[in-house]
Amino acid sequence: MALAPRVFLTAEQIQKRVREMGEQISANYPEGPLYLISVLKGAFIFMADLSRHITTPSRIEFMGISSYGRGKTSSGEVKVTKDLDVSIEGHHVLIVEDIVDSGVTLTYLMNLLEQRRPKSLAIATLLDKPEKRLRPVQVSYVGFQIPDEFVVGYGLDFAEDYRNLSDICVLTEDADAAGVGVGD
Ligand code: PRP
Repeated sequence: MALAPRVFLTAEQIQKRVREMGEQISANYPEGPLYLISVLKGAFIFMADLSRHITTPSRIEFMGISSYGRGKTSSGEVKVTKDLDVSIEGHHVLIVEDIVDSGVTLTYLMNLLEQRRPKSLAIATLLDKPEKRLRPVQVSYVGFQIPDEFVVGYGLDFAEDYRNLSDICVLTEDADAAGVGVGD
């Protein structure tokens, strides 16, 4: 039976929450520059939307931190595939993630960035799966806490597919799953 995406969070629900998160972050960082560091690839859409709701003068940076292996489960090992091009020393830094699952990626990234002596370092994630946590991570801004379902869309993939869905969907083997159109 083929995998099919079933809508879990609609584009409208996501946009409403992202706007709220942007307003909260703007209030908490009255002065810039705020360095928004996004973790590729999954967070690219969240970064684009969240950053436009942040009124604090911000700078946009990208890093690549990837789990080894592909498929529905992570092997627990991570590697840097793209480092920052700039120094963050003395600056406020907010890591923008699409999902915190085991916490392995963010534990690694927090340790790495802390060594570069930012003025402050915090995390914003659209999705949080607390049930899956293997490493404790302090996340300052959470869009949605979700159960242990495999989700795709709005930047999240399964084997590189589904990133361009506007909704966040659960990947299901249910043959009756609702079809989801790209860009709807
Ligand atoms: C995903 C996601 C996070 C990480 C979270 O990235 O974007 O970076 O996994 O999982 P963890 O809390 O268990 O470490 P992935 O490695 O799938 O790469 P991608 O963003 O390119 O899809």
